[in-house]
Amino acid sequence: MTTFSAVTNTHGGQVAPNSPIKARRANMAFHDVVMSRTATKHFDRRKVPADQVRALQDLIRHAASAFNLQPWRAVIVEDDARKRDLAEATWNQPQITTCSNLFVFCANTDLEALVAQLEDESIRSGIPADTVQAFIGAVRDFTVQLHGTERLSWAQRQTFLALANGINGARSLGFDSCPMEGFDPGGYSEILSLPSTLVPTVLMPIGYPSTVSREKLRFAHDEMFLEDTARA
Ligand SMILES: Cc1cc2nc3c(=O)[nH]c(=O)nc-3n(C[C@H](O)[C@H](O)[C@H](O)COP(=O)(O)O)c2cc1C
Repeated sequence: MTTFSAVTNTHGGQVAPNSPIKARRANMAFHDVVMSRTATKHFDRRKVPADQVRALQDLIRHAASAFNLQPWRAVIVEDDARKRDLAEATWNQPQITTCSNLFVFCANTDLEALVAQLEDESIRSGIPADTVQAFIGAVRDFTVQLHGTERLSWAQRQTFLALANGINGARSLGFDSCPMEGFDPGGYSEILSLPSTLVPTVLMPIGYPSTVSREKLRFAHDEMFLEDTARA
């Protein structure tokens, strides 16, 4: 039976969510991905093959989002002249002109259009109409009361989950990336001629690093994870 949480893998087949063997194998690979991913400061200008970029897009597209509304879009910049223009709006950080592809993640604040799209696609996927109506009604009730900065902040939080898939996904595919917030969103909107509903939120240049990364510096485990006092 198809449900709202049903997912397909990249080959179009159903994923068995509770398979312990699959989960264990995936965890080991994920450990290596997370531990070896670094924010690349300079790329060597080599191009990431198109099929790899496409594979990365699939990983990003399957990120979780509240209500499955997927309120983000990513503009992918490859053109060198465009990258030079954007570098100026990015404090001239070298990642922009040396990367293979620059993903510009934008929060999509047109929630009404997204709710309508989700409704259509849910019906098309075979979910019973009454189930869809009940769910979409709840989503509409939630989104209708989100305005202004609250709406943008909500969409941006989902956008960062897509970014997280992107940076770890890039590493898993054998290349690197850098999450970047050091840029002027207004400048990006203008250069990329974006509609006002798409708000540039975070960048992700991808490519092959030209420098060796430093070892990861992280705060101590006990500082980050706090025991609930009720357990003591
Ligand atoms: C939201 C966000 C914004 C960031 N912005 C920039 C940036 O503008 N320029 C940059 O060089 N690195 C940027 N970084 C990278 C961080 O400096 C880096 O993730 C952090 O130092 C930890 O290093 P690691 O990612 O290599 O483990 C950003 C990271 C995040 C998550």
